[in-house]
Amino acid sequence: MTEQHTHNPTALVTGATGGIGQAIAEALAAAGYDLTITGRRQDRLVTLAEELGRHGTQVASTPADLTKEDEIESLVAAHGSAYGRMDVMVNCAGGGILAGLGRQKTRHIDLQLDLNLRSAVLVFQAGLPWLREAVAVRGHANVVNVSSAAGKHGQPGLTVYSAAKHGLVGFTEAANAEFGNEGIRSTVLCPGLVDTPLAAAYDTPGEDMVQPRDLATAVLWLAQLSPRCLIPEISFLPPTGPLSGDGNR
Ligand SMILES: NC(=O)c1ccc[n+]([C@@H]2O[C@H](COP(=O)([O-])OP(=O)(O)OC[C@H]3O[C@@H](n4cnc5c(N)ncnc54)[C@H](OP(=O)(O)O)[C@@H]3O)[C@@H](O)[C@H]2O)c1
Repeated sequence: MTEQHTHNPTALVTGATGGIGQAIAEALAAAGYDLTITGRRQDRLVTLAEELGRHGTQVASTPADLTKEDEIESLVAAHGSAYGRMDVMVNCAGGGILAGLGRQKTRHIDLQLDLNLRSAVLVFQAGLPWLREAVAVRGHANVVNVSSAAGKHGQPGLTVYSAAKHGLVGFTEAANAEFGNEGIRSTVLCPGLVDTPLAAAYDTPGEDMVQPRDLATAVLWLAQLSPRCLIPEISFLPPTGPLSGDGNR
């Protein structure tokens, strides 16, 4: 029997300082998870950890730049040594740079690929021993990768972001083929516009967008499914408008 550091389930949430990641972290804390939250903004992380701690679970805030492999390794190692396992991994950090192809600087291309795709691969790889510990204790572990509707349908002006988010969809599928049968089940979330600062550039009222709590609800639900049930992908679309299901892509 694997020795347990904590009786609570545990989760690592990247992008926790952003709109969607914060909603996911709040839902997990309210549901009794011990958390590691991360982003680059240390002041925001400290405030958020205080807020989340009111739910009575442990909240470790560990700043990390996820474009840097050594910072990813330190982040995941800190989670592992604090909690001993990772029941839920949420790869939510991401973002795009709006610019037509031909006008993209190479460093901006690299940044979008690194942040939206490479970071999730590296977090998964570093987290694998701790995901396996969760499987040993609870019979399953969940990885949730936050892609985008742009990861299903390429967006003009967001070619590199779209490519990286498509890559995240493919990575999730391959991870399930490789690890699903041992109890590590991965799900990719593909939202259209979500009401966060990232979507503020769009001329769409926030109330017409998907809400961050919709994705948070999905993460909790995914973690509660019976061990042999795997949901590979979920789309979240407003009925009409940009990145919607109405063909206006
Ligand atoms: N909002 C939308 O309409 C929408 C639609 C589809 C998909 N998504 C996806 O949903 C995810 C969350 O987006 P959001 O709307 O919540 O955006 P957001 O509010 O801008 O949050 C982005 C998050 O990513 C983190 N981040 C950015 N660069 C980082 C880096 N180099 N290292 C570590 N963390 C970094 C930010 O933290 P720091 O700034 O503290 O580093 C922040 O926590 C992203 O993957 C995004 O692509 C969003």
